[in-house]
Amino acid sequence: MEYFSLQNRNILVTGGGSGIGLALVKNFINEGAKVILADIKNCEKLAESIGATYVFMDVSKESSVRVGFESAFNKIGKIDVLINNAGISLLSGVLEEGDTVKWSKVFDINVLGVMYGLKYGPRYMNQGACIINTASQAAFTKVAGMEPYAASKAAVISLTKTAAIELADQRIRVNAVCPSNTKTPMMAESDDAAYAELMSNLLSPISRVAETDDLVGVFHFLASEAARYINGQALIVDGGWTAGVSNQLLERILE
Ligand SMILES: NC(=O)c1ccc[n+]([C@@H]2O[C@H](COP(=O)([O-])OP(=O)(O)OC[C@H]3O[C@@H](n4cnc5c(N)ncnc54)[C@H](O)[C@@H]3O)[C@@H](O)[C@H]2O)c1
Repeated sequence: MEYFSLQNRNILVTGGGSGIGLALVKNFINEGAKVILADIKNCEKLAESIGATYVFMDVSKESSVRVGFESAFNKIGKIDVLINNAGISLLSGVLEEGDTVKWSKVFDINVLGVMYGLKYGPRYMNQGACIINTASQAAFTKVAGMEPYAASKAAVISLTKTAAIELADQRIRVNAVCPSNTKTPMMAESDDAAYAELMSNLLSPISRVAETDDLVGVFHFLASEAARYINGQALIVDGGWTAGVSNQLLERILE
């Protein structure tokens, strides 16, 4: 089990105050890591209540990311695992009606947010460390009206691969996790929450939407020594959605 141990690792999770990020923070603390919960919203009390340390970070602002990493370093020292997880989802209509304000907002957080993490994170990281970016299955499977989000997550995968090459000299591995619809506040607050759940029920061979617990072990594995030869990959965690069409879906279509 040493292979999977995260004991005494220093871990920073952006967007750690909710949903997938919060589930990761809790797991890492349970596994004996020292965890920085970085978020744009004030999570001081939340962090304290679960044994993490809060750092303010707005990933869409370069200066905030730089100061956030400095502050994290002052609190716990160099980082072993960085999870660039903060992100938002906004529907902007089909391309012909594209709302450029929404496009910019999504790209500022989802793309530049990860780019700033890759720019400032490594200088505060140990050799042999690793970075995991939260992308999305949306990078692979397209739905009308979702393009700013889908394109932003495709960009995250591109950033992941480039960073894996560029950071090899520092022996930092970089991978992405690409979840499908997952029950989090982001999904609950979205205008198409019911639609997203229905799509997962129909299109995923596992026939349900993901829970954050379905993802925790995946991030844990990629962060651990067991994944030491996995680098520059985008791991899709979608219950088999992108694998193809299940018999149950075919039967429903043919009904
Ligand atoms: N929930 C899903 O269905 C799903 C599916 C695939 C990928 N993802 C990705 O997973 C990640 C986490 O999503 P979630 O569902 O847990 O969302 P969530 O809304 O529950 O949590 C996101 C967190 O990010 C924080 N955040 C937002 N903007 C920020 C900023 N500018 N700077 C720092 N923190 C910021 C929020 O305050 C929040 O705590 C996102 O990158 C999202 O795109 C989610």
